[in-house]
Amino acid sequence: MKALMQELRENALNAISDAESIDSLDALRVRYLGKKGELTAILKQMGKLSAEERPVMGQLANQIRSDLEASIENTRKRLEAAALEARLQMETLDVTIPAKELKLGHKHPMYMALDEIKDIFVGMGFTVLDGPEVELASYNFDKLNAEEGHPSRDWSDTFYFDEDSRVMLRSQTSPMQVRAMETMPLPIRIIAPGRVYRKDEVDATHSPMFHQVEGMVIDKNVTMADLKGTLNAVMEQLFGEGTVTRFRPHHFPFTEPSCEMDVQCHKCGGKGCPTCKGEGWIEVLGAGMIHPHVLEMSGIDPEEYTGWAFGMGLERLAMRRFKISDLRLIFENDVRFLEQF
Ligand code: PHE
Repeated sequence: MKALMQELRENALNAISDAESIDSLDALRVRYLGKKGELTAILKQMGKLSAEERPVMGQLANQIRSDLEASIENTRKRLEAAALEARLQMETLDVTIPAKELKLGHKHPMYMALDEIKDIFVGMGFTVLDGPEVELASYNFDKLNAEEGHPSRDWSDTFYFDEDSRVMLRSQTSPMQVRAMETMPLPIRIIAPGRVYRKDEVDATHSPMFHQVEGMVIDKNVTMADLKGTLNAVMEQLFGEGTVTRFRPHHFPFTEPSCEMDVQCHKCGGKGCPTCKGEGWIEVLGAGMIHPHVLEMSGIDPEEYTGWAFGMGLERLAMRRFKISDLRLIFENDVRFLEQF
């Protein structure tokens, strides 16, 4: 029995000093010293021994147990120190290695154009408003004089949320006229840029989502001359001095008289080319004098106050400003395109 125990001691000490991880060390502890371990198994046979031999073997067993425990503890310390060393090695930082180049993006060309437009209008005393894209049809249509049955209210043109056609994705920024009239003190000078939605197929000049910038002025003695003068000044600041514009009569339910404004084509100077589809002019906005009934519906006395409003397509302006030929480029987010600006 003594020989058995000595053999166990030898084997265990060897195995412990060879252990390569804390886990395998724990397994060895269980294997040799655990309740069902090898040392315990030997001790269970003590009953067979004589009365003289028993205490001698008991002492030897205790000695072996404490030897093994000491060895396990030593090995544990060694393994932990090695693990720490390895971690320190791994986490060393070489501060002399060149840093990874950080790629900073920049503003999207359409927002660059919008910033220029905002700057120009803020410089003229306008306030910039933000408004909801999910809009009530009453604001998008009714309060703008487009009553039930108006073609623009059709389901084939407009994204509605409900069967009763009361909640919709706004199809224009013009509801911001109403929101401003209802909430702001007079006189009013605002622009309201934002997304609008229409059921259009995507092509070089159309997208079901695009951006408009609405503008409105209401004050005493405001006339169509103010409208033309302001918009001409804006276009010159945006596109350069001497930019030529023209105003054509048009119809909008909420303005009277109404017009559209074209900017002479920058490519051909008005002769007609592919960029302007042979027209010589590029349409950039709709505008007009706010209809007296629209003023009235929002609680403004049309005998005392007059006003004008416009709505321009932001993508079109950005395309002209940066000479972009296809609307889709603006939304595709291809960095090779965007990096050019
Ligand atoms: N909301 C009109 C459109 O989307 C544009 C417009 C705005 C016209 C303001 C007149 C006045 O076509």
